[in-house]
Amino acid sequence: MTQTRGSAIERIGAARGDPSLAILTGFHAIKHAVRFGAELRDVVAVDPGEVDALAAQLAPDVADALRSRLQRVDDAALRELTRLPVTGRVVALARRPPDRVGELAAGPGGPDPVVLLEEPRHLGNVGACVRVAAAAGAAALATTGIADPWHPDAIRGAAGLQFALPVGRLESARQVRRPLVAVDPGGEPLRAGLVPAGAVLAFGSERRGLSDELRARAAVTVALPMRPGVSSLNLAAAVAAVLYGLRLSR
Ligand SMILES: C[S@@+](CC[C@H](N)C(=O)[O-])C[C@H]1O[C@@H](n2cnc3c(N)ncnc32)[C@H](O)[C@@H]1O
Repeated sequence: MTQTRGSAIERIGAARGDPSLAILTGFHAIKHAVRFGAELRDVVAVDPGEVDALAAQLAPDVADALRSRLQRVDDAALRELTRLPVTGRVVALARRPPDRVGELAAGPGGPDPVVLLEEPRHLGNVGACVRVAAAAGAAALATTGIADPWHPDAIRGAAGLQFALPVGRLESARQVRRPLVAVDPGGEPLRAGLVPAGAVLAFGSERRGLSDELRARAAVTVALPMRPGVSSLNLAAAVAAVLYGLRLSR
């Protein structure tokens, strides 16, 4: 570990908005990223000893990779970088893997579903969707619209699990060539057999739900039954319920 300032912080600061790089804030995001193959370029922490101890205790499999890159920075520099309160005490920079979701959505693929988020708005929600897609074994997660699923806030929300499955952006749902399933409160109650293997499961935006165009393109529309009076579930809760419903019914 070296006492340092300057260059690593500058590289991380300059990486905002660079589509080839990922900024990872917090220990768990960095841990997952390394565990799923990310090559770290820089790791900066207010207290490298604290990060080293956490790694030894919670994730010995990634401890060496972290230790070899850890650099000390002062609290103010880190806070300015992350624009976070005193939480985010460790930040790393890694290269993003190439975006393969267009190719995956267009190909026949395997039996695992692909999650498609149509124009999601909240980066925390996008991150929560990535996290559950990784945990439930989805083949990939794609988004349309402006929200970047690799934005630092989405990476934090996903605890770095963008590295565990292909995650990226589609220009449009028209690129999808697999069976397209709309997930919408107005659909048929979800049951085993309704969703074909290898389907793309499309979820709508938080405010507006699915577009008319996407609904019209879907082979089937499925719903999670709800108690009368409840209009919808949170986006990430709906993704979790559908993925685990399918997984447990297999
Ligand atoms: C917060 S909801 C959108 C609510 C929106 N006002 C609407 O009318 O659809 C975000 C997305 O989660 C999914 N969702 C939420 N509750 C659902 C349910 N009960 N059944 C199926 N999908 C649901 C849908 O894909 C929906 O577009």
